[in-house]
Parts: sequence; C-alpha cells; structure tokens
Amino acid sequence: MTNSTDPTRQDVSASPHAYETEHGAAADTPAGHDAPKWLWRSGSLVNWHSARVHVNAVGHASASAIFEGIRAYRAADRDSLLVFRLEDHLRRLYDSARICRLDLRHNLPELSEAVVALLRANEYRDDAYVRPWAFPSGFIKEQMVPADSPCEVIVDSWALDSTLLAPEGCRAAVSSWLRISESSMPPRVKAFSNYHNGRLALLEARENGHDWPVLLNERHKVTEGAGACLALVRNGQVITPSLTSGVLEGLTRATAITLIEEVLGLGVEQREVDRTELYLADEIFFLGTAWEILPVLSIDGLRVGDGTPGPVALQLRHEYQQVVRGRSHRYRHWLTEIPAPKAPSPLFPSNL
Ligand SMILES: Cc1ncc(COP(=O)(O)O)c(C=O)c1O
Repeated sequence: MTNSTDPTRQDVSASPHAYETEHGAAADTPAGHDAPKWLWRSGSLVNWHSARVHVNAVGHASASAIFEGIRAYRAADRDSLLVFRLEDHLRRLYDSARICRLDLRHNLPELSEAVVALLRANEYRDDAYVRPWAFPSGFIKEQMVPADSPCEVIVDSWALDSTLLAPEGCRAAVSSWLRISESSMPPRVKAFSNYHNGRLALLEARENGHDWPVLLNERHKVTEGAGACLALVRNGQVITPSLTSGVLEGLTRATAITLIEEVLGLGVEQREVDRTELYLADEIFFLGTAWEILPVLSIDGLRVGDGTPGPVALQLRHEYQQVVRGRSHRYRHWLTEIPAPKAPSPLFPSNL
C-alpha cells in the first residue's frame, strides 16, 4: 500500500546531495554506522538515504511514535535467517497502536511481508535487528496529535550480533527514577517517548559506575530495566514481576517463562517483587530482544550469587540459543524462515 499524496513521501526520490551538510558529510549517516541499502516505508522498499521527513514533522510525530524491536538469527544448519516471534511482535505493535489510537493502515500480513522483504533486500546472512515503527505523518500543527491521524509505517534494520554465547554479565543498580506508570505513560505501550524514563535511569546508573538501571514503580516494587524485563532466582524458584507491575509485556520474558517451565522444569512465579528480594537473589537476569538473557552480577554493589552467571541463566541462554537458531522442533512455530536468495528475485529489483 503506497500513499503518493502524503507530503512526507515526496522527498523519497530527492537527490541525496540535497541533504548534505555544509561540511559535505551526509547528514543522516552517523560516523561508523553502516547504512543498509533499504528500508520499508508505507508500502515499498525505499533507498535508506532517501527516506526523509520534513523537519516540521519531527517533534510531534516522535512524541506519538510506537515501535517494535525484533531479532532475526542465522539458522544453525542452513543458509537462512529465522525471524523470532515475528507475529507476536507485530501483534504487540497493533496493541500499542490501539492504546495510542494510531491508525497503521497496514494489516498484519502486510507488515509481516514487509519485514521479510526488507531482510531479504538488505541481504543479511547473519544476525540482524529489525524495527517496525509508526508515526503520525505530515505536518502536524496541533499541539497534540489527534486520534486516528494517518500514520507512516517504517521498517528498518541493521546487523546485530547475538551475545548469547558471550560470557557476559552486567552491574545493575536500582534507580532513583521511578518507572512511568499505567496512570500516566503506560509501560505496556512500546512508545519511543517512554524511553525518556529509561534513559534518565540509565544515565544515573552509568554516572554511579553501574551498567544498567532497575526501576521501581510508584508502589516501590520492582518493574524492569531500561530496555528489558527481569527475573530472579531464589531457592530454586524463578520470580518475575507480574505484567501489572508496570512492565512491557516482554516476549523474551514470555519465552523464558515457557522454557524455564517446559524445558528446565522449574516453576516461575509472576508477582510483585520487593527491592530487597533482589539483594537476596541467587541469580538475576535481564530478558529482552536486544539484550537476550543478560545475567546481573551485582545489584547496588552487592554481589549476586558468586558474582558469575548462575546455572539457571546459563541453561536458559543455552535453550534460547537452541530455539532461535532453529535447533528445537518444539518451538519452530516461533520462527519465520527466510532462505537466503539463490538468484536475483523480481520482488527486489536492483533499480529500486
Ligand atoms: C522497556 C522494555 N521492557 C522490556 C523489553 C523486553 O521486551 P521484548 O522481550 O519483547 O523485547 C523491552 C524491549 O525492547 C523494553 O524496551
């Protein structure tokens, strides 16, 4: 579905040179960033450098924008990409759109095809990240973007290696910033503007010598990290803040609950979690698409367990790796396979 009357689309064919800065550098390519060839914009593949919006549209549109972050993994035993839980991510995008009253104008099969088309067009053979997002289009003169304003939907992507096999861990600290709440900025919505909260918490954590923050809610119960849910293990029981604690309905969290219960054979409690339970935990780990399963080795300066990734986190990482790389038949339904193209495809003409 294309929209040739949308003023923000008229720039698409413009010469990239028109957008060079006075210093001659392309304004939209940050140093060290390898731009992919294509992104998907409201119905078609568009040259990455040509995908622009007028400066007038930026601020208000961003305040209302929603998005998803999805990973595609290289299959363990063949030349394919496996997109992890694509349909579930797109469903969550529609949930965010519904709560924010945004009209995406593309249905789920169209967006699913868009993700596949983009990953193929950018010719990824290794792990990649793909981000569908939507923002109200055009010039917004109102102070608040009205409900049901037409949206542009973008899908962009970049290469992103998995860290599942890295012997990684991080230092976390409880933030003095509280998590945004259901009554003001619902954390269930995956909105770019929600990340202002996580960013403040992250800056504080880094300032104090930690890697990542953990945020409490207005009842001072544990919620999540700046971009990932979390779980802890205490006396063999896995515990994660409930979905009404003020967290995003994380798909890695949901995946972890399934794997912990069905494969590791442990129970998972979803309930309110006190800050001091973090201090008594044998293990803590973050759960998120980008972070995957990231063990927390210290919390507020206290060592977690023996200060190395614990057995549940390590087993979970292993099982997660099996699933996302297509080695587990039981969870194949979570994967959308994109075989590497063998020959140029008419779907992706080279003159786009
Ligand atoms: C605030 C926040 N919480 C949790 C998550 C984890 O969600 P998921 O596992 O679906 O990526 C994310 C991921 O982007 C996030 O931004």
